[in-house]
Amino acid sequence: MVLNSLSKSVVVVTGASSGIGRATALAFADQGSAVVVAARRKEPLDELVEECRQRGTAAIPVPTDVVDEEAVRQLARTAVDRLGRIDVWVNNAAVTLFARIEDAPMDAFRRVIDTNLFGYLHGARAVLPIFAAHAPRRRRCRCAGRGSTRASR
Ligand SMILES: NC(=O)c1ccc[n+]([C@@H]2O[C@H](COP(=O)([O-])OP(=O)(O)OC[C@H]3O[C@@H](n4cnc5c(N)ncnc54)[C@H](OP(=O)(O)O)[C@@H]3O)[C@@H](O)[C@H]2O)c1
Repeated sequence: MVLNSLSKSVVVVTGASSGIGRATALAFADQGSAVVVAARRKEPLDELVEECRQRGTAAIPVPTDVVDEEAVRQLARTAVDRLGRIDVWVNNAAVTLFARIEDAPMDAFRRVIDTNLFGYLHGARAVLPIFAAHAPRRRRCRCAGRGSTRASR
């Protein structure tokens, strides 16, 4: 992705309250993009928004649990209602589980799948129709995901 083409783009970043998502939102803000930042915790999102605004860019916090498909659709609607469109959607919200397979409770595995798989699908299902609706007027839209896999024994 060519960051210097992103000035004035509208970018949604999930999992933006810490770590890679937070750094991603700030990197887009530094390029002049307006950012819509989402995660479950409101306080760190508010702090991030303040930091983005100090860098001179528009920023909107939308507390969202990506496991909840309707909440993710509402996130997309908020971005369009407030900023007119979405150019880039970064599916970043994720949880990590370090455990022996036979030791961790099944709920812990379900949380990983719900967040890291279904959360990404919810994002794609929310934004792809918006990209399609805007396609005749838009240069290019992107839906990106970050992923990693690792297993050891
Ligand atoms: N850091 C690395 O070097 C690295 C390298 C390779 C892979 N990874 C993987 O990348 C992922 C993120 O890493 P990180 O270091 O950025 O972790 P992190 O600091 O824990 O960030 C995870 C983000 O996802 C959000 N999140 C989690 N569940 C969510 C949900 N249900 N709905 C909405 N947001 C949710 C968290 O916010 P809330 O808690 O506020 O919801 C947080 O903002 C992890 O899975 C990690 O294994 C990390």
